[in-house]
Amino acid sequence: MLNQVEELASKAFDELDRVSDVNALEAWRIRYLGRKGTLIRILRSLLTLPPEERRVVGARANELKKALETSLAAKKADLEQSAVISLQRESLDVTLPGHPVLLGRLHPTTQVLEEICDIFKSMGFQIVEGPEVEWEYYNFEALNMPADHPARDMFATLWVDFETESADKTMLLRTHTSPVQIRVMEKSRPPIRVIAPGRVFRYEATDATHEWMFYQVEGLAVDKNITLADLKGTLFEFTRRLFGSDRKCRFRCDYFPFVEPGVEVAIDCLACRGAGCRLCGNSGWIEILGAGMVHPEVLRRVDIDPDIYSGFAFGMGVERIPMLRYGIDDIRLFYSNDLRFLTQF
Ligand code: PHE
Repeated sequence: MLNQVEELASKAFDELDRVSDVNALEAWRIRYLGRKGTLIRILRSLLTLPPEERRVVGARANELKKALETSLAAKKADLEQSAVISLQRESLDVTLPGHPVLLGRLHPTTQVLEEICDIFKSMGFQIVEGPEVEWEYYNFEALNMPADHPARDMFATLWVDFETESADKTMLLRTHTSPVQIRVMEKSRPPIRVIAPGRVFRYEATDATHEWMFYQVEGLAVDKNITLADLKGTLFEFTRRLFGSDRKCRFRCDYFPFVEPGVEVAIDCLACRGAGCRLCGNSGWIEILGAGMVHPEVLRRVDIDPDIYSGFAFGMGVERIPMLRYGIDDIRLFYSNDLRFLTQF
């Protein structure tokens, strides 16, 4: 009988060692310490033993019962402790900040371009586009700049090298958006009111104020009785909407082969308001665009009779505007894809 108890003891402790979760532990408890468990069975059978053996075996069985109960409690505490630890390891601190989601944003040029377009849209202008790779004809010829015209020197040109049958069919990267004027007038009749935003290209070394690629917005209005006063009114309204209602505007004579008369439009300096500073080169004024009345020769070429119709046109650089507004002193920042710069807008 005593042997049975010892055997039970070693089996029970052995199994307890291998128990690794609370369910197994409960099964173990029922098996050895439960009301129908092995140990109770032994204790019950003590009655059948002679008194001497009963005392020895009984004492040993009771001792074992206590030992098993103590071990059970210890094991239980153990399992609970490790359950807590693994819960802690798996737990999420929901109060921690999440991974930031990077939001895309519009390029500063795009933002200003949209602003400009909105202003002209509200004045009844339509938005059109033309090709960036352009025929020499549209970029120069039709704009009153034949091959030997000295004004072509104003536009350092990137020529596109490809085979054509005839010499007068040469392609280039458009140096300004003015060719879109011709494309529009070829296809439609007055009244015309369009603006044409887009990229232009110049064969130039880059520096803080020059890029070989930049944006322009072209404007064109053709109708009966359009005068220089309409041009002035339109551009004055535009500059005030873009730069603030207290803006001053200056129109001075300038020369472009495709307009007559030609003007250059300036606003009073954003930094010194006309007093003269570094930004405006001490003049108090900042040039923002070129404009003029469409040259009769240009109208005639697209079969619009200059004796009946007249028009005005203007062209402005886009990057100039955020540069002035935010005090950006290097145009190369715009297209060098540096997020430290771009994410500021
Ligand atoms: N195309 C001219 C330029 O790029 C600007 C301009 C447009 C001037 C329309 C007059 C009329 O310099």
